[in-house]
Amino acid sequence: MPADSAFTRLSASARLVPVQLDGADLLLPDGENLAASLLAAGVGYLRHTPGSGKARAPFCMMGACFDCLIEIDGVTRQACMMTVTEGLIMTRPKGATNG
Ligand code: FES
Repeated sequence: MPADSAFTRLSASARLVPVQLDGADLLLPDGENLAASLLAAGVGYLRHTPGSGKARAPFCMMGACFDCLIEIDGVTRQACMMTVTEGLIMTRPKGATNG
């Protein structure tokens, strides 16, 4: 996963826990917002649209735009409405959502 990001973590003191995104290992801050943590980790997008196939990334960060949809442990969820927990297994949807 890329390490460069225009975003920074709010707290540098949070414990980092292992998660997976598309089979790649990542360390994210335990208990912090999942979408913000993925952006700060350099993840540039979370899904592709079914129509155009364009990549989408978290935008509103308040549950309204659905651009942060991501599959977690087999269930599609809004990353901006979740917190980081150890052992999350995440997959970026490819055209399975509206938009
Ligand atoms: S970033 Fe808009 S719904 Fe999650």
